[in-house]
Amino acid sequence: MQPRSWLFVPADSEKKVAKALDSDADAIIFDLEDSVAAAMKPVARDLLRNLLKRSGGPQWWIRVNPLASPFIKDDLELIGIGDIHGIVLPKAESGSDVTELAHRTGSIPVHAIVTETAASLFGMLSYRDPRSPLTAMSWGAEDLSAALGASSKYDASGELGFTYRLARSLCLAGAVAAGVQPVDGVFADFKNEKGLRAEAEAARRDGFTGKLAIHPAQVPVINDAFTPSAEEVKHAGEIVAAFEAHPEAGVLTVGGKMVDRPHLVQARRVLERARQEA
Ligand code: COA
Ligand code: MG
Repeated sequence: MQPRSWLFVPADSEKKVAKALDSDADAIIFDLEDSVAAAMKPVARDLLRNLLKRSGGPQWWIRVNPLASPFIKDDLELIGIGDIHGIVLPKAESGSDVTELAHRTGSIPVHAIVTETAASLFGMLSYRDPRSPLTAMSWGAEDLSAALGASSKYDASGELGFTYRLARSLCLAGAVAAGVQPVDGVFADFKNEKGLRAEAEAARRDGFTGKLAIHPAQVPVINDAFTPSAEEVKHAGEIVAAFEAHPEAGVLTVGGKMVDRPHLVQARRVLERARQEA
């Protein structure tokens, strides 16, 4: 199952970790990187070591520190001792970073954050590698804007600036090209539910199938936005049924509108997603 909601939790906070485990997130990302100060990283690793085992519930992922950092060696020692589903790799610049990680971690799934440095924007097609353990790609604007020396991610009208929208689209196309899950980035304004809903719905329309979260209150909004509505499922069912009734047809009319192969592909995807959530 591809997680809809991926909830970040700073791994040095016992209270937040307990809260994250209690949430309805499809995946929890225990963070050892940006949300944990250097001095607290050993504390965070200890907390995770003692967490271990559980049954059912959300997938457990660990966001390790970047490959070039002095922390990653200790971070990777956590892999294999707990019930860790996968590793989130920040500051990834190309598929060879995933390969390098995999040399140390084997076949454990990897979710790479692929737009956090200037160079990363030029590496998007390099993730396409059938031998790679990569299963998801997401994008981030915060580190990219810091890397670029930008004073703001937003343009004068308050929308994400062109560079960040470009990064988002590159991530989407790169993930689809690589055959992995495209995951939309965080919405930092966690008290603004309406804004989150609009952004998550836009992401789903564009092709993303999940979104990063930074606060438990964001989880139900994201889960909802990435779950097909009853109306969408019904419409998708009509399209599939129409093509099954006319297997020789290339183009048909459903609900008064033209539908052809791309609509059928999309309709099957909606039904598959609905089946997963059932
Ligand atoms: N996971 C689990 N629990 C969380 C949480 C998270 N990501 N964010 C907040 N909570 C908890 C809080 O501890 C608080 O618990 P309490 O009611 O027992 O006190 C409750 O949810 C409500 O939190 P709230 O007061 O609204 O927010 P806050 O000021 O405590 O925290 C942030 C705000 C942004 C610091 C916090 O949401 C956070 O740490 N987010 C994750 C940051 C992160 O991982 N960043 C890296 C990826 S970009
Ligand atoms: Mg970061």
